[in-house]
Amino acid sequence: MKILFASPEIVPFAKTGGLADVSGALPKALEKLGEDVTVIMPKYRTVDDKKFGLEYTGKNIQVPISNRIEEAKIYKGYINSGARGKGQGASKDIPIYFIDKKEYYDRQYLYGTPQGDYPDNAERFIYFDRAILETCKTIGLKPDIIHCNDWQTGMVPVYLKTLYKDDLFFKDTSTLFTVHNLGYQGLFWHLDMHLTNLGWDIFSPDGIEFYGKMNILKGGLVYSDAITTVSKTYSQEIQTKEYGCGLDGVLRKRKDDLYGVINGIDYEEWNPATDKYLSAKYLKENLSGKWDCKKDLLNIYGLKASKEVPVLSVISRLADQKGFDLIAEIMDDLMKLDVQFILLGTGEDKYHKLFEDIGKKYPSKAGIKIGFDNALSHKIEAGADMFLMSSRYEPCGLNQLYSLKYGTIPIVRGTGGLNDTIENYNPVRRNGNGFKFTEYSSMTLLSTIKTALDLYRDKSEWNRLMINAMGEDFSWNHSAKEYVELYRKVINKRIKNKF
Ligand code: ADP
Ligand code: GLC
Repeated sequence: MKILFASPEIVPFAKTGGLADVSGALPKALEKLGEDVTVIMPKYRTVDDKKFGLEYTGKNIQVPISNRIEEAKIYKGYINSGARGKGQGASKDIPIYFIDKKEYYDRQYLYGTPQGDYPDNAERFIYFDRAILETCKTIGLKPDIIHCNDWQTGMVPVYLKTLYKDDLFFKDTSTLFTVHNLGYQGLFWHLDMHLTNLGWDIFSPDGIEFYGKMNILKGGLVYSDAITTVSKTYSQEIQTKEYGCGLDGVLRKRKDDLYGVINGIDYEEWNPATDKYLSAKYLKENLSGKWDCKKDLLNIYGLKASKEVPVLSVISRLADQKGFDLIAEIMDDLMKLDVQFILLGTGEDKYHKLFEDIGKKYPSKAGIKIGFDNALSHKIEAGADMFLMSSRYEPCGLNQLYSLKYGTIPIVRGTGGLNDTIENYNPVRRNGNGFKFTEYSSMTLLSTIKTALDLYRDKSEWNRLMINAMGEDFSWNHSAKEYVELYRKVINKRIKNKF
C-alpha cells in the first residue's frame, strides 16, 4: 500500500509531545512490514536543512487560501527506517516532505507561546492541509491512504470529500484520522471559514460547525473514512459525556468506524542498555548501572542520592490534562515522607509558578526544572525509581511505557492508555508492572504513592516488580500490524462502495 503519513510534529524534526514520538516511529514500523510510506509535515524553524540533510526539491506549490494564492516550497529529506532493502542489505529510507512557508512555520514555537496559541493557527493549518494535497499532485504521489493525525490535519478528509471529490488524481485515496488528544480541537470563530474556500453548507451540525464555531478536529471525525484513537479504553471513554469534550455525540454516531490502537514505543531510542544519554547502561539481568544513573540525575538536580530514598519523577507538558492539581494538593504531605521529587516540564505559566514555588519550599527534597530537554528526560527515566502520571485523561501516554523499560515504576491513574498498559503489582502472585488508582482524588493518589513507598522498602519485592516492568514489550510490531489491517479494511470498503 502507498501510505502518506501526515503529522504536525515528528521526531527528530519537531516535538512538543507524544504525537511526535509516534509520528517518528510508526512510519518506520510500517515500512518494516513492507509498506510504501511517505511522510509530510510543516518546515518549522527547528527543521534545519544541514542538520537533517534536507534538499529543496526545486518544486513549489500554489495553495489557495481565502481569496489569495500563497506559494510554498517543497523540501525533501529521509527517515532511516532500519528496514532492509530488497536483498541489498542496505537500510531503507522513508521520504519525508516539508512544506516551507516561512510566514507560517518559521517561528520559535510550533503552536503558540506559554502565554497562548498563535492567533493565526487556523490559517497556518488549513494551509498545511491543502498544501498536503497540492504536494501530492506536484510530486506525483497518489496515496492509497492518507493517515492524518490530530486537528492540525483535520481538513485533509474534508477537502477530499468536497473540493477534491471529483479530482481523478485522488479517486483511489482513502483517509484514516487518528485522534491523539480530543482536548485540542482547532476551534476558531466562524469568520475564519473564508480561509477554507468551502461553502457555508459545510458549516452545519453535520459538518464542521460546533456551537457556532468552526471545529477542524470535527472535520476529521466526520469526513474521514475511519477513525482511530491511541488506546482501547480512550476509544470507549470519548464516546461518553465526561470524556467526549462535546464531541461524544459525533463519535457515537461513527462508533462502527472508530477503533482503538495502542501506541508502541521505539526501543531504538528508549532502551537503558543502549541509551546514549546515560552515564551508565543497564539491563534487567544486571541492574547495577541504574544506581549510577540515579547519582548522575540527582547531581544534575543538586540533590543527595541515597539507595534508601526513592525518587519520584514527572516529565510532562504542564497542562490541566495531566492532573497537576492533585499533585499540588498532596505536595506538603508527600514532602513529609522519605522521598525525593523531580520534575521536568514546560507548558502553562500557572504550573511553572506552582512548581518553582515547590522547589523553593523544599530545596533538599524537590528538584524542579522548567523547560524542554530531551537528554534530561532520558536521564530521568533511568535515574528515578518511580514515575508519576495522575492524568485527568490520557489517550495513551508514552512516559509510563518508557518508564517500564527503564525499571522506573509507574504510578498512574487508570484512564485511557494508562489503564490499558499498567497492571497493579500483586505481591502474592508477584505479577503486575506498577501501581494504579481510579478515583480522581488527591487522597487516592497519596495512598497509592504510600503503597509504592512501602513496597520499595522490600528490596526483593521491588526487584521483582522492576524485572516484570522491564520485561514488558510495547514495541510497534503488534500495533503497526493493526494499522495495516485497518488501512486495508478502509481501502477495500471504498472499492466495494464504488460498485
Ligand atoms: P503528551 O503527548 O500528552 O504530552 P505522552 O506521554 O504521550 O504525553 O508523551 C510525552 C512525550 O514528550 C514523551 O516523549 C516525553 O518524554 C516528552 N516530554 C514531555 N515534556 C518534556 C520536557 N519538558 N522535556 C523533554 N521531553 C518532554
Ligand atoms: C497525545 C496524548 C498522549 C498520547 C500522545 C501520542 O498527546 O495526550 O496520551 O500518548 O498523544 O499518541
